[in-house]
Amino acid sequence: MSDLSRRSFLNASAGFVTAATLASAAKLGAAAQGDPLNIAVIGPGGMGMNHVRLLAARKDVKITYLCDVDSNRLAAAAQHVEQSGGSPKTVKDMRQVFDDKSVEAVWIATPDHWHSPAAILAVEAGKHVYVEKPVSHNIREGRLLTDAARKHNRVVQVGTQTRSSAHARRAMAILKSGEIGDVLVAKAWNSQLRSNIGHQQTSDPPANLDFDLWLGPAPERKYQSNLLHSIWRWWYDFGAGDMGNDGVHDIDVARWGLGVTTPPSTVAALGSKFFFDDDQQFPDTQYCVFEWAGDGKVGSQRQLIFEQRIWSPYVQEGYENGNAFYGTKGMLLFGKGGGFQVFGPKNKPGEKGTGSPDLPAHHQNFLDCIRGGGRPNADVEIGHQSATLVHLGNIACRMQRTLHYDPASETIQGDAEAAKLVRRTYREGHWAVPKGV
Ligand SMILES: NC(=O)c1ccc[n+]([C@@H]2O[C@H](COP(=O)([O-])OP(=O)(O)OC[C@H]3O[C@@H](n4cnc5c(N)ncnc54)[C@H](O)[C@@H]3O)[C@@H](O)[C@H]2O)c1
Repeated sequence: MSDLSRRSFLNASAGFVTAATLASAAKLGAAAQGDPLNIAVIGPGGMGMNHVRLLAARKDVKITYLCDVDSNRLAAAAQHVEQSGGSPKTVKDMRQVFDDKSVEAVWIATPDHWHSPAAILAVEAGKHVYVEKPVSHNIREGRLLTDAARKHNRVVQVGTQTRSSAHARRAMAILKSGEIGDVLVAKAWNSQLRSNIGHQQTSDPPANLDFDLWLGPAPERKYQSNLLHSIWRWWYDFGAGDMGNDGVHDIDVARWGLGVTTPPSTVAALGSKFFFDDDQQFPDTQYCVFEWAGDGKVGSQRQLIFEQRIWSPYVQEGYENGNAFYGTKGMLLFGKGGGFQVFGPKNKPGEKGTGSPDLPAHHQNFLDCIRGGGRPNADVEIGHQSATLVHLGNIACRMQRTLHYDPASETIQGDAEAAKLVRRTYREGHWAVPKGV
């Protein structure tokens, strides 16, 4: 039996095999034989092209499909891969990628509203998945993707590449060593200068864009030019604001350093539009505080503070995006793209490091897990937990009130209006709507 047909057999009979058999099955396929891994990139737009450029230059993967609903972007991506010696098939419907058994892993760099629906379809089709952050458009579908990844025993890496960056790993090791004592509070900040997207009327979509496929499982609506590309993230139906864009990187690092692996129980937030007079729906100014109750004893609680302004022509505390970890014996300042610095009592300077997010290392870690087994650095559960903070912070800002969250059931308690926003409204009957939402 070939590796691929063996995998199909195992997938079909997953209910009858042991977890250990499934764990080794995750490694089967062309990758195990030392051949390049057949991969697809779905959504080769802004970030997607960063992936294409890196992947096209690798010898251990072969881009066999490119998929985009914008024919101009698809053609530009194909041209790049062809110039690098490849000959990818180009399609606009991702189902063609999922239906092809020879594709072993997919990169998903679409807008956020497609992340979990596409990734769930991919793992169900037996593919390993690298999915951009935030892993979900809403909490419920992030949970469904996490469960689907486990059920189908697929590697799912989330695009928070700081998790694979050497300087971040060193900073986290310092925190774990206890050098700055118990880290009771962490801060994450996102300081950016974004653009005004204006006020627009609906119009016909450009001929190069299949807008209906772009909308996918989101509710149907008419096209307007300030929805895409890239600026969809300012709209409730498609994105998660800048908190889910650049902010989620910093929130993820803050959670990592704080050592919290479950959702918080309380979320207080304020935020709205202080600066942009345009169609953006998410706040441009935002403060969120998350608390973990611990076991109720002094010292077991943890707090995470997130702060964001997207109209800043300067960086904050020396870093465009960063973190502060406040320990009982010292403090560690961390910049996503700038390094870190430890301070002891009376601000005595300690270890310093430099570095920046390492996308090639993150790709390598994903591929190593496909070939060798194990969970990737930004495993889907980690991505789901960080995205949960993003969604809760945004919901608390929309509601302008404190939320009480039950980490076990992943539901908001005692607030029916807020509780509804843990899920979304989907387009009825669309093929990409995940089961169980
Ligand atoms: N990890 C990082 O540092 C980082 C940085 C920037 C963006 N991102 C993430 O990358 C993703 C894309 O962001 P962007 O700014 O490049 O957006 P973008 O709008 O420029 O690109 C998205 C691409 O997906 C395509 N697309 C949309 N629906 C599709 C579908 N159903 N099938 C195939 N293609 C589809 C679009 O046509 C477009 O080319 C986002 O999730 C964003 O959060 C990550």
